[in-house]
This record gives sequence, C-alpha cells and structure tokens, in this order.
Amino acid sequence: MKATALAHPNIALVKYWGKRDEALILPHQSSLSLTLAPMSVTTTVEFGATSSDHVEINGHTAKGSERERVLRVLEVVRAEKGGALGPARMVSRGDFPAAAGLASSAAGFAALAVAARAAAGLPEDAKAASMLARLGSGSACRSVQGGFCEWRRGEREDGTDSYAVQRFDAGHWPELRMVVAILNRDEKEVKSRDGMRHTVETSPYYPAWVKDAEAEVPRAVEVIQRKDLQALGDLSERNAWRMHATSLAAEPPLCYLHANTLGLIEHLREQRKKGMPVWFTLDAGPNPVLLTDAAHEVAAEALARACGAVDVVRCVPGGDAVLKSEHLF
Ligand code: DP6
Repeated sequence: MKATALAHPNIALVKYWGKRDEALILPHQSSLSLTLAPMSVTTTVEFGATSSDHVEINGHTAKGSERERVLRVLEVVRAEKGGALGPARMVSRGDFPAAAGLASSAAGFAALAVAARAAAGLPEDAKAASMLARLGSGSACRSVQGGFCEWRRGEREDGTDSYAVQRFDAGHWPELRMVVAILNRDEKEVKSRDGMRHTVETSPYYPAWVKDAEAEVPRAVEVIQRKDLQALGDLSERNAWRMHATSLAAEPPLCYLHANTLGLIEHLREQRKKGMPVWFTLDAGPNPVLLTDAAHEVAAEALARACGAVDVVRCVPGGDAVLKSEHLF
C-alpha cells in the first residue's frame, strides 16, 4: 500500500497552450517535449495508514488548490480500486535548485501518478499513468516517460485518448543540451493555467495557433528522427514566438517577455550568425531555455551569464519515471 516514484521535468518544443476541457485538462492541440535530467521530484504515497488525507510538498503541508489537485489524482486511483484504499499520505520532494525557473509541477504530478498507482497495486502502465498525471497538470502527462514525448490531444470527450506517448527514448540524441537561463526569479507572472485560459477566451489569433501547433508536431518528430539540430532549433523558436504572439494578442494583452529576455534573444541571434549552434524556447515566463549540443553547452552558459542570467541549469535528455525501493517516510 506504499510506493515511491521519481520523475523528471520536461520542456516543450511544441507547446501546449489552451484547454478544450478545463475539468479533464484536455488540450486544443497536441504538443511535444523533451524530458530533462538531472532535476527530479521524488514522491511517496501510502494508502490506509492515516485517518485523513495528508499532502506534504517540499516540507510544507499543502493547502488550497495545490492540495485539491493532488487529492483529485488520488481520488481517481481510489475509484479505480472500488474506493477501498482509505485515506492517503503523500510526501513529495524536488531536488530543483531553488531558482531553477522550471515549474516542478510536471515532474511532481508524473511522480505522484506512478507512485499512487503502484501503492494501490495497479500494474505499471505508462498510458494509464500519463492520463492520471494529466489530471494534475497537463504538461505532467509528458513526464511519465523519458526522451521525446508527444501528447496527443485526442478526440473523445472523456479524455481516454488524450495522453503522451514516447517517440524517442533518452538515448536517441545524447548530445542534445537544454540550458535554462534564469534571468528573473520573481514569481509574479500570470500562471500558465490562467494565462492559457485568458488567451483561449480573448485572443483572435488563438484558432491560428491551434492549427499551426498541431501541424508542427509531426514536423518536429521528423527532424528529431534525423537529429537535425538546426531544424529543431528553428522549429522550437518559431513555436515559442507563436505561443507568445497569441498571448500578446489577448485582451488585455499577456506579455511574459521582459526586457532582458529580448536582450538575450538578440545576443543569441548574433552568436548564431557567427556560427554558434544555439536556439531558444520560452514557456509562460521570462526565462529562456537554450537549445544546443554538448560541444557548445559551456559557451551557451557563458552567453546566458553575459546577458544577466543569475543562475544557469544545464540539462541533458532524461529517462522514464521510475519506482524506487527507498521511501520518503
Ligand atoms: C507554457 O501544464 O502547467 O509550459 O495543465 O493548467 O496545469 P495546466 O498547465 P501546465 O502548462 C504548461 C504550459 C507551457 C507549455 C508546455 O509545457 O507545453
């Protein structure tokens, strides 16, 4: 009745931006990401040992929506076992550097889904775990497996065909590097959940985003297949620009870019003109993630620092979420 799992975060190269179903977390379009090591979240779940549910994240008792999202995932597992599992204790810990700038929620809900299913005695099943993780946070469905994962939007209203599948494992392209440039540590941004809802509701560009992003996924798979860094870099940049363009067109506009974000992007373009293989992607915040190869990761870190990065995290392709024999309690 007790199990522990470890999962890595992921960075989307074709972004997920907007839900067609808020309750089931079903996206309007498919997306594609790379799972990132070495950062990880470890989560232990035990059913039936306490008198009420207890959720602890990074040393704090979770409250409000954070707690609700975890309990929702646990509730689905209980229902699958006919409700006989009893209250749960869940403890989760991330090893992210304090200012990693990457949300730990994707890794957190992926680890929770894998641990909760195992604690309930359900079989290891990447598809079922991906759908379960999705109910906590959409992007988490892509962290159940390593390497490059595609979240297929699905067509069904009940969400049973909306989950991530691994297209290439972590060993497919070991020289690929993602360098996270922390330019700003503030947490004042509009959260992804709210930002994407606002964009869906008010941006006249949103339908164009959906159509374009869906078409980019098979193109991304094709360039990853042949390990074409330039083509993947170009594709990642234009997809990030288009996600931000649809948000900038919202009413009122939503701008995640800061002055130093643009400064770094400009400097990166200059370096690229001079022959450095480096591109960027940008989630719902001001901190770019640079795409390069192993031979240029040190230079990419230097570029980020020269543009004011206060912290830099160098990442490599990460593996699947895994069960661990050591528990957190
Ligand atoms: C910009 O998965 O955090 O990082 O499903 O509401 O929990 P919810 O949102 P979340 O959004 C991620 C948005 C993104 C792009 C991406 O990771 O695909």
